[in-house]
Amino acid sequence: MTAAPPARRSRGVAVLGSTGSIGVATLRVLDRHRDAFHLVALVAGSRQDALAEQVAAWRPQLAGLVHGDEDTPFASGAGVLVAAATHPDVDIVVNAVVGAVGLDATLAALRAGKRVALANKETLVMAGPLVAEAARSGGGELVPIDSEHSAVLQCVTAQGSAPSRLILTASGGPFRTWERDRLARATVAEALQHPTWRMGSKISVDSATLANKALEVIEAHYLFGLPYDAIEVVVHPQSIIHALVEFPDGSVLAQLGFPSMELPILYALSHPDRLADEGLRRFDPIAAGPLTFEPLRNECFPAFMLGLSAGRAGGTMPAAFNAANEVAVAAFLSGRIGFGGIAGVIEDVLTRIDAGPQPTLDAVRATDAEARRIARQVVA
Ligand SMILES: NC(=O)c1ccc[n+]([C@@H]2O[C@H](COP(=O)([O-])OP(=O)(O)OC[C@H]3O[C@@H](n4cnc5c(N)ncnc54)[C@H](OP(=O)(O)O)[C@@H]3O)[C@@H](O)[C@H]2O)c1
Repeated sequence: MTAAPPARRSRGVAVLGSTGSIGVATLRVLDRHRDAFHLVALVAGSRQDALAEQVAAWRPQLAGLVHGDEDTPFASGAGVLVAAATHPDVDIVVNAVVGAVGLDATLAALRAGKRVALANKETLVMAGPLVAEAARSGGGELVPIDSEHSAVLQCVTAQGSAPSRLILTASGGPFRTWERDRLARATVAEALQHPTWRMGSKISVDSATLANKALEVIEAHYLFGLPYDAIEVVVHPQSIIHALVEFPDGSVLAQLGFPSMELPILYALSHPDRLADEGLRRFDPIAAGPLTFEPLRNECFPAFMLGLSAGRAGGTMPAAFNAANEVAVAAFLSGRIGFGGIAGVIEDVLTRIDAGPQPTLDAVRATDAEARRIARQVVA
């Protein structure tokens, strides 16, 4: 007779951006795994009613609303993200806020020795070396939620050795087959109609311009330590294969699944273990149908090319790209610029900004602020 393995301690989780697409999917996953995890903290941006419903259902120790007014019953202000991320009962921080606002919480959680399950890719893009240093100095750990990076991590973990090349897949977004002149006139409603994923509005627009895929290439560079020449992108409209990972002998592993963020979220919580989950749709190759691949039409998606060149330039240039993109997407969503204007704003910012080689935190913040200032000027 062998002794049963010791039961694993339930791990405390903070969900930052709990009212968003990833936040809500995370709560669905946690609901199915109440023995393995318990919710400690919930933080939302400004939607008090949506947060109140979650708080009533989950009764977390800490509930925060970053943009709450003086009447809000929840902790409020910018500090609540860091307070939740460093709460002593939290083991895993799911960072699912959108944009640069997530940076301080990621750094603080890693310095406090937590696992950061990262959806908020903007954090890593703007300050990759600083995020790595925070993890090293504090003993924290960064685990991706992005489906492509989760796929890479799953292949690398299964193989137990370092990859030599990554091929990230891209659905191609809603404008995969559109011609360039029609693309420039695309409406907000058209840009938000993603063919395979239902997501928040910012990442949906990023997926339409393919700026999202550039953010993901930079994210992969920092997460897996590969040079940009070893990270490729291929369009795969069905979004079934999430990444292809090549090892030094030329063998390629892939991770497959129907498009759902719940599997990568669960894996980010349980890595390197796997938890049984009957709530996830089982894979069926016949239902998935033919899997096809095509090259990315670089000439139609200039935001992708601008992002790649910012990544390759390194230093604070990725922070400038991210900030310019955030301002441009917000301007597009509020009708101040057209779809074609997004890449134009980014290009103007990257041309005019004085980005530095050493990404210290001060330099990243200064570049972020300066890129936003120039971008707003260009928009106006
Ligand atoms: N959705 C996906 O399938 C997917 C896949 C991969 C990666 N990601 C990444 O995950 C992150 C979240 O994406 P999402 O689609 O879940 O976005 P979303 O649906 O727009 O949700 C964003 C969340 O962040 C909160 N938030 C917004 N602005 C904030 C601010 N200034 N301060 C604090 N909190 C703020 C929102 O709160 P309120 O509701 O109160 O406004 C909401 O809870 C992004 O970085 C995205 O790129 C998403």
